[in-house]
Amino acid sequence: MSDGGRTRRLAIEVVTLFPEFVAGAVRVGVVGRALERGIVSVGIEDPRSHATDVHRTVDDRPYGGGPGMLLAVEPLATAIETARRRLPAGSPVLYLSAQGRPFTQARARQLADGAGFLLLAGRYEGVDERLIEELVDEELSIGDYVLSGGELAACVVIDACARLLPGVLLNERSAVEESFGAGLLDWPHYTRPETWRERTVPAVLRGGNHADVARWRRQQALGRTAERRPDLLDRVALNDLDARLLQEYRAARAAPPGAAAGPAAGQGPEDNTGDRQRSPAD
Ligand SMILES: C[S@@+](CC[C@H](N)C(=O)[O-])C[C@H]1O[C@@H](n2cnc3c(N)ncnc32)[C@H](O)[C@@H]1O
Repeated sequence: MSDGGRTRRLAIEVVTLFPEFVAGAVRVGVVGRALERGIVSVGIEDPRSHATDVHRTVDDRPYGGGPGMLLAVEPLATAIETARRRLPAGSPVLYLSAQGRPFTQARARQLADGAGFLLLAGRYEGVDERLIEELVDEELSIGDYVLSGGELAACVVIDACARLLPGVLLNERSAVEESFGAGLLDWPHYTRPETWRERTVPAVLRGGNHADVARWRRQQALGRTAERRPDLLDRVALNDLDARLLQEYRAARAAPPGAAAGPAAGQGPEDNTGDRQRSPAD
């Protein structure tokens, strides 16, 4: 929990029409542990409690007509300003929006490194553009699809940030070694039994040679990233060893089953087949 002798805390506020949705989601798992340990705090502000009419109205019709409603401006603005006062000075206001900048691991890291932020979860057709101009610092999208509301997206952002804070994960190396940690996708993982449905754990992982294991994992991470997310690989500086590992990985993938395709991570072609490992008996 301590970072250079200082305990780091991340203060998060969520403005949502569905407080119970967010409150329930953050109570479990890794984020729940971060809350229990006081490393993260999550405050929730419901615009409905700031609605002034007798029906507690929180939606309004869009100018120009068309389907759907918008979140009513005034209760929303008051909710944001109320929640923002609970945050450290300078904390950004982030509106979860399909039109926002794609949320990435790098952005999660930046937010986790800060003192806090406010997440605005939209509903209906969204929010009045002037409120975005007036009160929102940044729009964040969690993907190219449209959700019914920003609550799930808010929980995604909270989870991605909380797990990066010192003292939250049981094994701190996880956050460094998993996908995107070094700009690459993760390598394949295996647990017991050694052979399951005729698929055997790669020999290199059973051999106990740490250097070979590290080499194999690096090769798998490079190979998987090249196959699944070549766009990520373009942004990673590969050294000579990386380039060689990648070349071996590709050669092994291109080789017919059972054919040796050069020395891959020191253990033969069986270790190069990624997530479709075959037992040597095959
Ligand atoms: C039905 S959507 C509104 C969609 C909006 N009219 C549009 O076409 O962009 C309701 C709310 O869900 C949230 N939302 C939808 N898709 C999202 C995404 N991909 N990322 C983050 N939030 C999203 C936003 O808060 C949005 O205000």
